[in-house]
Amino acid sequence: MSGPSTARHLLSIDDLDGDTIRALLARSRELAAGAESRARGAIAALLFFSPSTRTQYGFQSSVLRAGGGVISVDLENSRAGSNWGESLADTARVLSGFADLAVIRHSEADGVYDFAEASTIPVINAGNGMGLRAEHPTQALIDLFTIEKAFGRIDGLKILIIGGTHLRAFRSQIRALAHFPQVELFVLCPDKFWMEFADAEHYRRAGIRFTRIGHLDEVKRNVDVIYHNGITERRGEPVDSFYALDRARLAEMRADAIVMHSLPRVEDLAHDVDGMPQARYFEQAHNGVPVRAAIIEHLLAAQRE
Ligand code: CP
Repeated sequence: MSGPSTARHLLSIDDLDGDTIRALLARSRELAAGAESRARGAIAALLFFSPSTRTQYGFQSSVLRAGGGVISVDLENSRAGSNWGESLADTARVLSGFADLAVIRHSEADGVYDFAEASTIPVINAGNGMGLRAEHPTQALIDLFTIEKAFGRIDGLKILIIGGTHLRAFRSQIRALAHFPQVELFVLCPDKFWMEFADAEHYRRAGIRFTRIGHLDEVKRNVDVIYHNGITERRGEPVDSFYALDRARLAEMRADAIVMHSLPRVEDLAHDVDGMPQARYFEQAHNGVPVRAAIIEHLLAAQRE
């Protein structure tokens, strides 16, 4: 089949409404507690055109734990990578006959959309570059799950996100948090990485509210979550220590608050935070297994409808 896809994909967090997000969180809790997967035996094609540890191997773990299989597309030795350069659309058409769903990360924001348009199996955006269409929806769901697991709720919490508001994970997180209108959201971001006008306008029109702060000290004694999301995607780009977290800077945070980070860290998160009881970022990464399993179940069920 070569026509446009009718499959149900997860390309943006906006592909999920609030009820579906809540249902996915509830199902993730069941799966984390040992419920049997409804996606038993499913085969996932994994295409990572840019580097990943948590998302790539987290999906692999989710599928394998569910008794399924993985086709991990080797970009060196397949036609999909730069060695040959078969189009994303043709790769999608072929893999649609080999797997039940596809997970793709691409350095170009449109790459994931080009792939999904041709795919007849559900496609999950595992992070797509930079720019206005860039998102990381599964990261946002993992973040919500981690927060809910820590506090038993999301609504009513005070959450600080530190990091580049131009980054794909932030763009999904702020949209996801909008489904919890009692959340009080604070954002600390250098001017250099502040959001584009189009993003700000989108959030304003969608009624997404947040308060931009200028220093961690303004809120660190009061917030429930201090989430460092990374300042830049470019490895080696220096991180201003003003925006970095370490044990001394976090000393006065609440004992019952949590510290999250989407990882990988650079100088933005000191290793001396790891021993703090509030540090949750490795657990956050591990939470990807049940959350991604729930997402896979959901998309496969939607595909069968
Ligand atoms: N948080 C995250 O997306 O990590 P990876 O780039 O390692 O997948």
